[in-house]
Amino acid sequence: MKDLDELNALNGQQLWQPMGHPGDTRANPPVIITRAEGVNIFDADGHGVVDAVGGLWCANLGYSNDVVKQAVADQMQVLPYYSAFAGTTNPTAIEAAEAVVNFFADDGMERVFFTSGGSDSVDTALRMARQYHRLRGEPQRTKFLSLKKGYHGTHWGGASVNGNNRFRIGYEPLLPGCFHIPAPYTYRNPFDETDPAALAQKIAKVMEDEIAFQDPSTIAAFIMEPILGAGGVIVPDPSFMGLMRDICDRHGILFIADEVICGFGRTGDWSGSRHWGVKPDMMTCAKGITSAYFPVGAVMIGGKMAEVFESNQSGEGSIWTGYTYSAHPVGMAAVTACLSETLRLDTKTNAAAMGDALFAGLQRLGDDFDIVGDVRGGHGLMCGLELVGDTDAKTPLDPALVKRVHKATYDAGTMVRIGGNNLLMSPPLILTQADVDTILASLRTGLAAV
Ligand SMILES: Cc1ncc(COP(=O)(O)O)c(C=O)c1O
Repeated sequence: MKDLDELNALNGQQLWQPMGHPGDTRANPPVIITRAEGVNIFDADGHGVVDAVGGLWCANLGYSNDVVKQAVADQMQVLPYYSAFAGTTNPTAIEAAEAVVNFFADDGMERVFFTSGGSDSVDTALRMARQYHRLRGEPQRTKFLSLKKGYHGTHWGGASVNGNNRFRIGYEPLLPGCFHIPAPYTYRNPFDETDPAALAQKIAKVMEDEIAFQDPSTIAAFIMEPILGAGGVIVPDPSFMGLMRDICDRHGILFIADEVICGFGRTGDWSGSRHWGVKPDMMTCAKGITSAYFPVGAVMIGGKMAEVFESNQSGEGSIWTGYTYSAHPVGMAAVTACLSETLRLDTKTNAAAMGDALFAGLQRLGDDFDIVGDVRGGHGLMCGLELVGDTDAKTPLDPALVKRVHKATYDAGTMVRIGGNNLLMSPPLILTQADVDTILASLRTGLAAV
């Protein structure tokens, strides 16, 4: 390994980073994170902070889970790789499939298709939705509906259903036949509706209207995150997901829950769908499935869809999509170990309790600082602060000032994530009250820096 001076000289010069401007990265090299322990990360200067981002909404078990580490290390020795394309499989894949199907049995999930991450999972689910309708004799059902502000990864399909134009404009034209309806975002919406339940009803009407306009027989699937994560931790009214599910059912439209962030305990329940009492047709997963110890994603498939694929006699039920690393033996060992640790530690219960404590503290910060326009959370360990320059006009805070708050918060002991004019939090689910206190104290210092 190169020494620190050599690393600093190279930092930002050759490596283009996701979600960053390559020129800016060269001029302002990123923080080098050198090690992690528990829920803390440490940079090259030795500065340690609570990682309130959980890596990227993914390090649910923190960074020191020896059971998962050992499972990965052991599997490396035994079978570091073999293809899981049809024809061969491996023992860890068989075990991981059972573990994850059991994990989501109460959500109505009966089968799993493994991928390498969330974007893969979303693209695969969209493909499977179209194929399902073909198999049932409705090949004209090709369109997709989704929510503005939703984030579904960056593959072409995921970007096409993505509801934030930052991830779209530079890459258009995207997939045709994708249409977006308003987000359940009470702080800003086209109806100026501040009551979450009333907003849910209004969006349901727009959804019905859009479906009628497109013609229901042309729509394959609707995809939504149970709580919208990267779009700013937008928490819908408890009625919202069920309303959308009912509309989809009435029109023969498949319902895909994007559980890449919400799944595996983050909302205080084992899935975001369960949190809102909804059973989807498919669930897209990643992140918490291995707690980021190995890149793995999964598409969970409900009984209704499984039956159609498995009973197909024409051969058209074959799945002609997949990834070299689908059901990678080392990743599969990480899945089984991670799920067993997740259940043993009952991370959802801690996420609910610590999420309440964090949200209550953030609300106090909201009362104390005018630049906090909206405080979002209250459903597990996903929270957001929306920062504004003018409270009445809700003008987004100047990006330079958002960066200043972020830097001061980091210097004071906590890593949070910037998403537009939001500060986003999704800490490991093993967080303690002392960690919550550190996050809140750091944010108080950060917000006071403007
Ligand atoms: C809800 C959701 N879907 C999909 C993705 C894409 O996952 P990945 O970055 O693993 O491709 C993300 C990533 O943050 C996500 O939050």
